[in-house]
Amino acid sequence: MHRFKYKGNSLYCENVKVEEIAKEVGTPVYIYSKNTLLDHYRKIEDALREVSPLICFSVKSNSNLAVLKTLVSAGAGLDVVSGGELYRGKLSGVRPEKIVYAGVGKKRDEILDAIRYGILFFNVESEEELALINRCALELRKKVNVAIRVNPDVGAHTHKYITTGKGHTKFGVDFNTVKRIFRSKWRYRNVNLRGIHIHIGSQIVNPNPFQNAIKKVLKFLKENKIFVEYLNIGGGLGIVYSFEKPQTAKHFAKRILPLIKKSGLKLILEPGRFICGNSGIMVTKVLFRKKTGQKRFAIVDGGMNDLIRPSLYEAHHTIVPVTLPKKGAKKGKFDIVGPICETGDFLAKDRRMKLLDRGDLLAVMAAGAYGYTMSSNYNSRPRAAEVMVSGSKFSVVKKRENYRDLVRGESSG
Ligand code: LLP
Repeated sequence: MHRFKYKGNSLYCENVKVEEIAKEVGTPVYIYSKNTLLDHYRKIEDALREVSPLICFSVKSNSNLAVLKTLVSAGAGLDVVSGGELYRGKLSGVRPEKIVYAGVGKKRDEILDAIRYGILFFNVESEEELALINRCALELRKKVNVAIRVNPDVGAHTHKYITTGKGHTKFGVDFNTVKRIFRSKWRYRNVNLRGIHIHIGSQIVNPNPFQNAIKKVLKFLKENKIFVEYLNIGGGLGIVYSFEKPQTAKHFAKRILPLIKKSGLKLILEPGRFICGNSGIMVTKVLFRKKTGQKRFAIVDGGMNDLIRPSLYEAHHTIVPVTLPKKGAKKGKFDIVGPICETGDFLAKDRRMKLLDRGDLLAVMAAGAYGYTMSSNYNSRPRAAEVMVSGSKFSVVKKRENYRDLVRGESSG
């Protein structure tokens, strides 16, 4: 559920006309609904209330400060994967003991900074990284909490680029390595091995893979007499982009809560997309139309540099008109493509919709997660603006970039 709805012929975000935002701020523009963000955060919180989990919003999915502040004020912690995300976390006002830090390639400076800041956990992805964290902690005369990320080798039935819990991926360590790490605890005197972390993939629509992974990990811990206090089950809950029927938070909770309660472990989660995916849209304008022998194209002002998901994962985002056409309007099939000089620059292919006109505004739905955060300046295109709506008000929460922003830091050598 989200708060992008038609009233009459116009698409609204909460109580603000999307067209008004586009007119004032220009296109392409990302629009976020603050109350949808909060609704989704609370859905997870309510569903898992029995075990009072720490819900660390995954900053990589949407790192805008207004989004982070909204969720942090509602009680969320943050899942960060870089010094930059930690910096954003600091600015969001989150308490350090609600931050978990993942990622396969943490650098020494990033580790030192996070230790000084007093984060709750490092989710550790290799023995070499663990040794480095131990050395950094020793240097700062601190003891830091660590969760070992185990790769449980389970499938997630999602796109291959967003599967992370199979043995051939770069993520986590295998069960044998976990055993070795716990057996040689003495080597890591400045870390507390207090948790196990898993994250098996993203956009998972069925609870079975989560359940399988958790079962496998709990069985392993029991069999090997490995005692920890925390289980971090990562993120990955899928959302509706078009025709998916993902599990609800309640359904998810029903399947995993019995396992968590029985284990007695404290639960941490790192949802990203579930919270922010349906909370955002990208609005783009039709610049030109053209027909070739085989295709009808609508060329819009939002390209793969603004929203790369269709190009990278062949993701199917529902695209709707910002103003509904008159009843009976003629329809046709369009490829909706961006202005970038790449064949892979498309937002949708063979999409049946009313015949578009120049200047029409289109809303790409479910663009709140991995939309702006994955955008780039490719083709020297300034990045889009981001807007947050709350009730009847909207504000620009990230200014559109300008040409000066594009060359900032460059010199003639
Ligand atoms: N925790 C870890 C360790 C992760 O690697 C991720 C996402 C999450 C949590 C949050 O996952 P979520 O709940 O959002 O599924 N760019 C891709 C998704 C990449 C996900 C990367 N890791 C996309 O647009 O589909």
